[in-house]
Amino acid sequence: MTKEEQSKYLEFAKKLSKEAGKIMQEYFDKDNAYSYKADKTIVTEVDKKINTFIINEIKKKYPTHAIDGEEEKYGKNKYTWICDPIDGTAMYARKIPVSVFSLALAEEGIPILGVVYDPSTDNLYSAAKGEGAYENDQLITVNNYELENENSIINFDMWPTAEYNLYPIIEILGKKTYTVSIGSIIRAGIEIAKGNFTLAVFPGTKDKNCDIAALKVIVEEAGGKVTNLAGEEERYDQSIHGAIISNKLIHEEIVKLIKEKLR
Ligand code: IPD
Ligand code: CA
Ligand code: CA
Repeated sequence: MTKEEQSKYLEFAKKLSKEAGKIMQEYFDKDNAYSYKADKTIVTEVDKKINTFIINEIKKKYPTHAIDGEEEKYGKNKYTWICDPIDGTAMYARKIPVSVFSLALAEEGIPILGVVYDPSTDNLYSAAKGEGAYENDQLITVNNYELENENSIINFDMWPTAEYNLYPIIEILGKKTYTVSIGSIIRAGIEIAKGNFTLAVFPGTKDKNCDIAALKVIVEEAGGKVTNLAGEEERYDQSIHGAIISNKLIHEEIVKLIKEKLR
């Protein structure tokens, strides 16, 4: 893909994410109907509405492209748009403003651009490969903290039924570093790209590529690193094997610890 094409797709993704965020914000204060999916995660009517909106808009503009939305999918192509219409739905349904919209474009499974929009602050996070990561029009970068640094913060997803049991890791790292679980893995990843958090460890697998695809580009363009739990690269147009999202400096230490402790 040429740089011109990449930047054209990025502009399109930014525009779509603002429109999706508008829908999210419009329903935020309302009593949104929600239900539980088979994996016991929550979904609202707004998640589905945004997902359908994204499919329709992409189909209009790029009819051959595939769309892998968390709530609805369309087509198959070497270009796949990967969308999490609302990340942090459990918080959204309770009117707690931490949730974000996320969209990435992958070529043969490799994300080449990503956008994350926070409608509660109107902040747009974006990155295209080789072009840096931005909060609106300001460059953002990861921090350079070791885990023991008193400013360091780690995000863990507390998810006892996940395929990977992270609790032994939480126990070890929790003694070194202030640990939180903020209810949206994508927001946690953005905080790493901005230098506020140092690490996030995510146990998601089936259909959870939508949680990490945009972060893969945004965090890495901000100087960080994103791999699966084994420290390997992934395709993001299919299910994944968890994720380690870090400031890069501590990445290998975490991979080693997970290899030792994870069943
Ligand atoms: C969830 C959130 C949550 C994380 C779950 C995700 P959703 O996404 O990111 O923080 O713990 O693993 O599935 O369901 O709100 O899109
Ligand atoms: Ca999600
Ligand atoms: Ca979601």
